[in-house]
Amino acid sequence: MLREVAATRYVTPLREGGSLPGVVEADDLGTYAMKFTGAGQGRKTLVAEVLCAGLARRLGLRVPELAGLVLDPVLGLGEPDPEVQELLRSSGGLNLGVEFLPGALGFDALAYTVDAREAGRVVWFDALVNNVDRSWRNPNMLVWQGDLWLIDHGATLIWHHNWPTAAASAARPYDASDHALAPFAPDVAAAARELAPRVTASLLTEVAAEVPDTWLTGEPGFDSPDAVRDAYVAALLPRARDIHQRVTLGPPDQRLRARPTGWPTDTGPAREAVR
Ligand SMILES: Nc1ncnc2c1ncn2[C@@H]1O[C@H](COP(=O)(O)OP(=O)(O)OP(=O)(O)O)[C@@H](O)[C@H]1O
Ligand SMILES: [Mg+2]
Repeated sequence: MLREVAATRYVTPLREGGSLPGVVEADDLGTYAMKFTGAGQGRKTLVAEVLCAGLARRLGLRVPELAGLVLDPVLGLGEPDPEVQELLRSSGGLNLGVEFLPGALGFDALAYTVDAREAGRVVWFDALVNNVDRSWRNPNMLVWQGDLWLIDHGATLIWHHNWPTAAASAARPYDASDHALAPFAPDVAAAARELAPRVTASLLTEVAAEVPDTWLTGEPGFDSPDAVRDAYVAALLPRARDIHQRVTLGPPDQRLRARPTGWPTDTGPAREAVR
């Protein structure tokens, strides 16, 4: 299960986010990007966030830590913005906290270069969970302390919106042609060789165990939260084996490939000067 902390102060909304996430402080003195159960996207978005972040972390991809954030709706009483007040009022109980990365910048392919190996690992992972929200229009990646971090996995695992067709849906290909890292010639085959064998039933079961019961209870067609967890495992396990054969990529951008990895200043005299 997720570690649980209590929200103590709503700081400010993160305006870029479609679900109106907010920056919140908690009683562990941490600061979190908070994703609300009362947001229009619903609790399945939060389930997807927990499953994807748990899986990504175990595969060695960088994702911020997650926590269950318990919200007392009185926190919203003093909020001047009626939209935020309504969100807090309707999100009492357990919400999702994503450790806030202070000073992180939104990923921009023109400013930050990713090598083919790392790009391949991210694209392979996104193919596995069917992430439709990592395009160049909305990359949902941050650059923090010089490294690439993955955020926002709410728009993944599309099959959980229609469980009777989940097996067929999870067998579908992945179109990565407008993926934010497609221009970096992602080495998806190498990523599959490295990562696919690690996605075992026991690893997926361990990841699914982190999803709080309250977000799985009452799912139509399932008699317990564990039965829903098993369905997530059953959808992901076969997909991990062969999804790399069904990933479509556009042509790489030779100009981006020619650049050194990281920020333009990561190599050369400027970088050396700060070391
Ligand atoms: N952990 C974090 N640390 C720092 N900034 C963050 C973090 N999480 C989110 N943000 C910022 O808030 C924005 C919105 O967050 P996120 O993409 O998770 O929300 P969303 O509502 O799911 O967005 P979308 O509109 O992409 O569906 C991000 O683009 C980023 O700028
Ligand atoms: Mg986003």
